[in-house]
Amino acid sequence: MMQTQLRAPDVYGRTFEMDGPALAAIAERMEARGAHPFVAGVIDEYMAGLIQTPADTLLEIGCGTGAVARAIAARPEMRGPVVAVDVSPHLLETARRIAAEAGLAGRIDFRLGDAHRLDLPDGGFDVVVMHNLISHVAQPAGVLAEGRRLLRPGSGRLVVFDGDYASWTFATGAADIGAATDLAVQRGIVAHPRAMRALPRLLAEAGLDLNWSRAYVVADIGRAEFWTPSVASFRVLLPAAGTMTGPEASAFVAALERASDENRFFAACNFYTYVAQRDD
Ligand SMILES: C[S@@+](CC[C@H](N)C(=O)[O-])C[C@H]1O[C@@H](n2cnc3c(N)ncnc32)[C@H](O)[C@@H]1O
Repeated sequence: MMQTQLRAPDVYGRTFEMDGPALAAIAERMEARGAHPFVAGVIDEYMAGLIQTPADTLLEIGCGTGAVARAIAARPEMRGPVVAVDVSPHLLETARRIAAEAGLAGRIDFRLGDAHRLDLPDGGFDVVVMHNLISHVAQPAGVLAEGRRLLRPGSGRLVVFDGDYASWTFATGAADIGAATDLAVQRGIVAHPRAMRALPRLLAEAGLDLNWSRAYVVADIGRAEFWTPSVASFRVLLPAAGTMTGPEASAFVAALERASDENRFFAACNFYTYVAQRDD
């Protein structure tokens, strides 16, 4: 398959070329995060009222292991077809297996595809969801334009949820309180840490009218909780990204885990959801 390939360290934007241990760490973090009540609450908020008829169709782009697609497909109002696309054959295989184990095998059509250019018909979906995707793609504006193309004219709605990763921070005991390690984390995990700040402009430029938004801050103070799986994944993912060596990543993770054990941990990131509608 031809892909619009990312030229940045971000491991989530280069899942098509990650090795087995990196993909296993990515899958584990996705499933842990997908099971967190914060994520369930976010999905509940953006899905409220979005599905209007039992025939409505929904597409998730960048589904990974399928945690979000499963949560959506299991909703009582979601009776129409759910399609979920990802660029990684390995993650799609995992997604299909977990969906089958959850009794949702027949509910989600998992497909291989590049968010920049999907082999799906114009205007075929009532809802398109990009949940934790836009910060990782090579060209966010191109992916939004592709999302718009796939929406039903006049009524189709696009949901974009992601972290404002320029705000993402893990305090350390270093003299800079973690500024240098924050940069290594941001570069290793996301390609566009400021993308969500640009979304109101990028949506308008893509021909989409913003009609709902929500802001969240996720902070673990004292003990790590929401951020525990992310921290654990850094041991493998930051060396895979090339933004820390193996020993640097291990020492960073060990220090964060120690801080949590000692009730001295601090990590936070802002997140946003935008819902926008086709302007024709
Ligand atoms: C951070 S993960 C989010 C996965 C899932 N939506 C979730 O929240 O659990 C980003 C996903 O986007 C996929 N991805 C990255 N670039 C992509 C592209 N150009 N086209 C399709 N999927 C892409 C990755 O393979 C990865 O599974």
